[in-house]
Amino acid sequence: MTLDDLATLRQEAERSLERVHDLESLQAWDRDVIGAKGSLTAFLRGLGKASPEDRPALGRAANDVKTALVTAFDARKAELQSAALDARLATDAVDVTLPGRKPTIGVDHPVSQMIRELSDIFALMGFQTAFGPEVETGHYNFDLLNIPSDHPARDVWDTMIVDTPNSEIVLRTHTSPMQARVMEKTTPPVRVIVPGRVYRYEAQDASHEWMFHQLEGLAVDERITLADLKGVLREMARQLFGPNRRIRFRCDFFPFVEPGVDFAVDCMICNGAGCRVCKQTGWLEMGGAGMVHPSVLEGVGYDSEKYTGFAFGLGIDRIVMQRYGINDVRAFAGNDLRFLQQFAVASR
Ligand code: FA5
Repeated sequence: MTLDDLATLRQEAERSLERVHDLESLQAWDRDVIGAKGSLTAFLRGLGKASPEDRPALGRAANDVKTALVTAFDARKAELQSAALDARLATDAVDVTLPGRKPTIGVDHPVSQMIRELSDIFALMGFQTAFGPEVETGHYNFDLLNIPSDHPARDVWDTMIVDTPNSEIVLRTHTSPMQARVMEKTTPPVRVIVPGRVYRYEAQDASHEWMFHQLEGLAVDERITLADLKGVLREMARQLFGPNRRIRFRCDFFPFVEPGVDFAVDCMICNGAGCRVCKQTGWLEMGGAGMVHPSVLEGVGYDSEKYTGFAFGLGIDRIVMQRYGINDVRAFAGNDLRFLQQFAVASR
């Protein structure tokens, strides 16, 4: 055991440290050189066997070597750790120059688009938009609309009944129950539209859904006449389908209006000549309308001598079908993205 042995040990240890290129082999180096069973530790332990004259010098030199090797070890460890971190950062790096992924943004359903458009049109004519409950009482859905329980017209709306033991709760069969709900809360003048879902126990086909949408209109004031109804509906048709539209009223029966009409707009595709969209009739059916029946006004406490009003109910789904040439109403709730995505442009 000499100073030369120590110098050789140091030289070898330093050389092998230079060859260490990862943290795993650094650990092995630590174990082989400065660890409990390492070569330097063995040297230090062996000092006891050196002659008393040599021991102090050998001991000092061995401690110096230990300090040098531990320092070299720490430096190498720091180097390797930072290199490992750099490598990880390089592989995990985000390439900010890549084009982003386009988020899928939904589009408004064509029926919702139509509801918004109709609300805008009627707003310009002074109508507010209101919404009502889809689960309704028989009182509002029928009784206040002049349809008592034994009235044959009550069968016209094949009704979905909500199973409640002591009261008649239904899914509203039309938006008309909102007529009474609005009037009960308002003193005339009233000008309101009510878009929303309605439900009927109906066999589905290309033009009949069991859930569809209506838009109710109601105006009550002094001296309102059928001419006002005609003017409002004509203006709506003009705004919706273009200028020069004509309106057709034909007598119809609804217990809550007198007189009652069904109304149609002349076909905007063929200008009334007859085509595929209007099924060769020249007219597009829009819904029912009429002058509010005096008993409906009295039913909500209005003086029917003083006030008159008109009401109408449009089938929104069918208006959308006419506008886009859609030939099956079941497409609206069919939830087929290929159908719905076609309305992306229209909704912007
Ligand atoms: C009514 O529901 C009356 N409440 C309308 C009314 C309001 C009249 C105010 C007078 C005063 P009707 O049952 O005809 O009327 O329905 C109105 C419109 O809803 C129809 O013209 C049609 O466009 C649409 N509609 C009716 N049934 C269906 C159905 N099963 N699927 C899709 N649309 C329908």
